[in-house]
Amino acid sequence: MGNAIQDMLSKFAFPVYLAPMEGVTDRSFRLVCKKMGADVLVSEFISSDALSREIDKSVRKMCFDERERPFGVQIFGHDEQSLVAAARMAELAGPDFIDINWGCPVKKVVNKGAGSAILQDVPRMARLTAAVVDAVRLPVTVKTRLGWDSSSKPIVEVAERMQDAGVQAIAIHGRTRAQMYGGEADWSLIGEAKANPRLHIPVVGNGDIDSAEKALQYRKRYGVDAVMIGRAAIGNPWIFQQIKALVRGSEASFPTYDERVATVMEQLHLAAKEKGERRAVLEMRTQYAGYFKGLYNFKTVRMKLMQALTISECEDILRSYSEC
Ligand SMILES: Cc1cc2nc3c(=O)[nH]c(=O)nc-3n(C[C@H](O)[C@H](O)[C@H](O)COP(=O)(O)O)c2cc1C
Repeated sequence: MGNAIQDMLSKFAFPVYLAPMEGVTDRSFRLVCKKMGADVLVSEFISSDALSREIDKSVRKMCFDERERPFGVQIFGHDEQSLVAAARMAELAGPDFIDINWGCPVKKVVNKGAGSAILQDVPRMARLTAAVVDAVRLPVTVKTRLGWDSSSKPIVEVAERMQDAGVQAIAIHGRTRAQMYGGEADWSLIGEAKANPRLHIPVVGNGDIDSAEKALQYRKRYGVDAVMIGRAAIGNPWIFQQIKALVRGSEASFPTYDERVATVMEQLHLAAKEKGERRAVLEMRTQYAGYFKGLYNFKTVRMKLMQALTISECEDILRSYSEC
């Protein structure tokens, strides 16, 4: 049988995903990253409980722009009925694939048996995953971690079990649940999962890719089919452009101040269209540190940005820096 995700990835010279990040990768940021060269985009995680109850906020999280394709809707949950119902609803939104989040380490999620908690019960993980695969026509992918803690890292087996469940790609964050986001991602086990001769589905490597050079090095060293970038893209969507440049053999370029401001403005306007100006301006506050990292004496500008309430105020504040 063919693999639709493999076909999708084969269209890109060096496939790069923007990692799903709750509270960060809304449509505005995803569109900015797409323009900069991110190939595959995924929604923020969406609670299957909330989605199956048609809670407005969760339904809205599935919305995407045609320019975002290939695009996946990510769901998380712990019980079969709501996961299946959510997957069916996600399918109606028309994405290219559905992704199941079996990696979230957050207590609120894990305590209910969702996210990475499932790594303590691989047979259940396989059962729930197969139920979702059977419920929809779209390809289903999974995003997970190496295992629960340092004494349990079953990812090589998990990848095979996911393949047997009918999953068409697996994204692996090279940490255990116990590690949360601390320490260093261990890519050697991602490489082992990929090197398993019984595994045929694409493996997407994730964790700590923070430069174009590292993306190229790690893909080559660990043989993964694609890389996924999360935190390093926050306020730095240029990382995708830099990867593309390096793949082409040209020099990676870094954004000027004016380019950074223009990109912030673009993101703000896109976000305002989606959720209103006030919310767009407030949510953008978490991204300034990334966008203007390393700029001399930027702190006072950032303090002012933290108080701005309109897009034009933000623009004036940012322009005042470039003029000084
Ligand atoms: C703020 C934040 C929100 C996140 N939200 C999600 C999410 O909604 N779904 C998901 O699968 N992973 C989520 N993650 C995990 C990332 O997708 C990624 O696996 C992790 O950050 C490691 O990749 P990185 O080192 O490139 O950041 C989140 C991470 C961060 C920092």
